[in-house]
Amino acid sequence: MAEESKLTRIGLAGLAVMGQNLALNIAEKGFPISVYNRSTIKVDETVERAKKEGDLPVFGFHDPESFVKSIQKPRMIIMLVKAGAPVDQTIKTLSQYMEKGDCIIDGGNEWYENTERREKAMAEIGLLYLGMGVSGGEEGARNGPSMMPGGSIEAYKYIEDIVLKVAAQVPDSGPCVTYIGEGGSGNFVKMVHNGIEYGDMQLISEAYDVLKSVGKLSNEELHQVFSEWNKGELQSFLIEITADIFAIKDDKADGYLVDKVLDKTGMKGTGKWTVQQAADLSIAAPTIAASLDSRFLSGLKDERVEAAKVFKSSGVDDILADQTVDKEKLINDVRQALYAAKICSYAQGMNLIRAKSVEKDWGLKLGELARIWKGGCIIRAIFLDRIKQAYDRNPELANLLVDPEFAKEMVERQSAWRRVVCLAINAGISTPGMSTSLAYFDTYRRERLPANLVQAQRDYFGAHTYERTDMPGSFHTEWFKLAKQINN
Ligand code: 6PG
Repeated sequence: MAEESKLTRIGLAGLAVMGQNLALNIAEKGFPISVYNRSTIKVDETVERAKKEGDLPVFGFHDPESFVKSIQKPRMIIMLVKAGAPVDQTIKTLSQYMEKGDCIIDGGNEWYENTERREKAMAEIGLLYLGMGVSGGEEGARNGPSMMPGGSIEAYKYIEDIVLKVAAQVPDSGPCVTYIGEGGSGNFVKMVHNGIEYGDMQLISEAYDVLKSVGKLSNEELHQVFSEWNKGELQSFLIEITADIFAIKDDKADGYLVDKVLDKTGMKGTGKWTVQQAADLSIAAPTIAASLDSRFLSGLKDERVEAAKVFKSSGVDDILADQTVDKEKLINDVRQALYAAKICSYAQGMNLIRAKSVEKDWGLKLGELARIWKGGCIIRAIFLDRIKQAYDRNPELANLLVDPEFAKEMVERQSAWRRVVCLAINAGISTPGMSTSLAYFDTYRRERLPANLVQAQRDYFGAHTYERTDMPGSFHTEWFKLAKQINN
C-alpha cells in the first residue's frame, strides 16, 4: 500500500476529454489526483498533459486496484464514463477495492433513477454515492464548470472544498456549485438544465431562420446582430457562440461553414427525458417539447427533401419572395420575441423541477439553481440573475411569468413577439418554439379557457362529470337525451 503521505486527495476514472480536463482542473486547484482509465493510453496522455500544463499533481494508474489504493480515506472517486451500462461496469471494477465510507461520484448525464438504484446498492456494502451533473463541455471542465451534486450529503461534505474551487466562479454570486439534494436530484436538475438548453438552442435557431429567410440577412449581418445582442438582455454563452459561428469561413470550399452544415440535429437523450418527465408530472413544457420535436423532424432530411418537391408548386415558396421587411425593425422585434419566449421556456423548466421536488420531497431551492447556472454551464446567461432575484423575492412564485418584473417585460415585448410569429406564419417559416411559447403565455394569462367545452364533451360521451362555475359539486348531464329532444 502507498505511504500515507503520498496518498492523493481524490480519484477520477474515465479519461475522455471531459475527464482529463476535470482532472487537470482539480489538480490545478491544488488537490493531488489519481487518474485511471480502462484503456491505459488515456492515462499516460493525461499525465503527459499534466506535465505540460504546469507540472500539475496528477498521478496515473494502469490498474484499478493500485488506483483505488492511491487515494486517501475516505476515498472519493469521480467517474466520467458514458451513462448506463459503462457506469455499472466501472462501479463494479472500482468498488471491489473500496472500503466502508468511501464514495463514488458519477459526473455523467445519468438518468436519475439509475443513480438512486446505485446509491441503494452501494449503501448495502457501506459505500456512499453521489450523482453529480457537470455542465460546461470540455472547456468548462478544464476552466470551471457548473456542478450539480446530489445524493449523500456526507459524501458531499468530503468533496465540498474541492468542488467550490473547481467550479466556475461568478463575481458577486460565488462558485457555480451547491449541494442539490438527496437521491437523484443532482442528475434530475442537470437533465432539466439540458432540456432548457434544447429550448434555448431551438429559439435561437428560429431567430436565425426568420432573420435569414424573411429578413435576408447575410452571415456577416447575423454575426453583427448576435454580437450586438450579446451586449444586452440576451447576453449568454449560446448567443456568444452563435455570433462566432456566423463568422467562421468554410475551410474546404468557398463561403461560410454554417451554410454547409447538414440540417440534422443529433441528441443523446436528456431533452427527451425532460419532456417525458414533464408529461409524467403533468407540467406543461411546450417550448422544450417543441425543441425536441424539431430535432425529430430535422432528422427526417430525406423525407423533407421529398416533401419540398411535393409542395413546390403549391405557392408556399412564393410567399417568401413577396415579403418586404424593414430590416432594423425586424431585428429589434426578433430580439424581443426571443427574450419573451426564453422566459416561457425557463418558467416551464423551473416548474418541472419544483413539481419533481415536491413529489420526491427534495426541498430544491429554485433561486439557488439559477445562481449555480449563472456561470460555467451551457445555459449561462445574465438573465439567470433575474430569475434568481425573482425566486428570492418570492420562493413560492407560481410561475416566473407572474413575477412583477418578468410580467412587465412580457407585456413590453408581446407586440413585437406577436408580429414575429405572425410574420413567420405568413411567410411559411416554422417557429415552433416561439409560437408555442406565445401560446403558453396566452393560455396561462387567460382567466377563462375553452376547456369548459372539452369537459362538456367528456361528460357527453363518457359521463366523466364536470364542475360548475356557480356552485360546488360534481355534475353529470344527459346531454345526448337533451340534444335529441332539441333536434326532434
Ligand atoms: C452540458 C451539455 C452536455 C452535452 C449534452 C448535449 O451541460 O455541458 O448539456 O451535457 O453537450 O448532453 O446534449 P444532446 O447531445 O442531447 O444535444
